[in-house]
Amino acid sequence: MPLTIIVGGFFGDEGKGKIASYLGIADNPLIAVRCGSINAGHTVSYNGKTWKVRLIPSFFVNPRTKLMIAAGALIRLDVLFKEINDTETRSRIFIDPNAGVIEEKHVEAERSDIFLAKGIGSTLQGVGFAMADRVLRRLKLAKDFSILKDMIVDVAYEVNKALDNNELVYIEGVQGTFLSLYHGTYPYVTSRDTIASAFASEVGVGPKRVNDVIIVFKSYVTRVGEGPLDNELSYEEIEKRGLIEIATVTGRKRRVAPFNIDLAKRAIMLNSATQIALTRLDTLYPDTKCIKEWNRLPQNVKIWLENIESLLKIPITIISTGEDIICTIDRRAELGLKR
Ligand code: IMP
Ligand code: MG
Repeated sequence: MPLTIIVGGFFGDEGKGKIASYLGIADNPLIAVRCGSINAGHTVSYNGKTWKVRLIPSFFVNPRTKLMIAAGALIRLDVLFKEINDTETRSRIFIDPNAGVIEEKHVEAERSDIFLAKGIGSTLQGVGFAMADRVLRRLKLAKDFSILKDMIVDVAYEVNKALDNNELVYIEGVQGTFLSLYHGTYPYVTSRDTIASAFASEVGVGPKRVNDVIIVFKSYVTRVGEGPLDNELSYEEIEKRGLIEIATVTGRKRRVAPFNIDLAKRAIMLNSATQIALTRLDTLYPDTKCIKEWNRLPQNVKIWLENIESLLKIPITIISTGEDIICTIDRRAELGLKR
């Protein structure tokens, strides 16, 4: 009954889309459930093509996997249909009847909210106002839209049933631990909780059903929008180190800081993470580009990784060395951790 949750360990944009899509191909799960909403963009590169998805699980690259959207998620109809089209997944998309629906009025309200726009640096996708309507019990849900009728399934039931049948299920979390409404750098956070237990709750599985929590860390820390970022690098330094990144949803430049062990330790604690997936190793160490075996990594890089592992006390099982799914080192079999 292996259930694995994928979470972001820093401030989002750790590369969860890459890791999730890799696991889709490598592990062949029966079900993948996407949480969160359209403020979170996941990037997937495979066979020379790149997709940016904000609702559909990054696992779509595996044609066998059933793609589900959690009760706790918030969808927007136009984004949903565009992504179904882009990914050609109409026959295997399923939405929980209780998933919320963002409407134009939520986007408009958010765009004219000075505190969110300027003070927080919100992505202004309407998610916060839709969440507020949900708390006030006036948000429309997926079951209220006839256009969604033949995609509606009880996702919580389907996931629990699959686990009873010993099938492999992945939950694709979004954003990052320190953007959590409860555990993040409030008020510079998003409008939901973003730790592993919250994603289990969004889907409708109890904590005892979770076997693994894979926490995704980037090889350095980035943040978009406002809020604290320890050891933040100057723009000149970011440029010099080749760490310039542009945000998926908003096109803004990401702020950058070096890998932060204390932050990573706290994220592992908050998520009870069991494994680390480390991304963008090739951005930090260009000579690792698309290396697929641990033994081929340069000695200095191995030492850097082993030092992180010994400080964080859980294994780095998956290492991303390039955008494409194939540019991945997977140590799970060698470490006896593949389920
Ligand atoms: P909101 O959730 O769009 O209102 O944005 C609130 C804060 O969270 C802002 O600083 C955003 O930049 C940040 N944020 C929200 N979603 C993401 C994400 O998926 N990746 C990175 N930052 C995000
Ligand atoms: Mg992102």
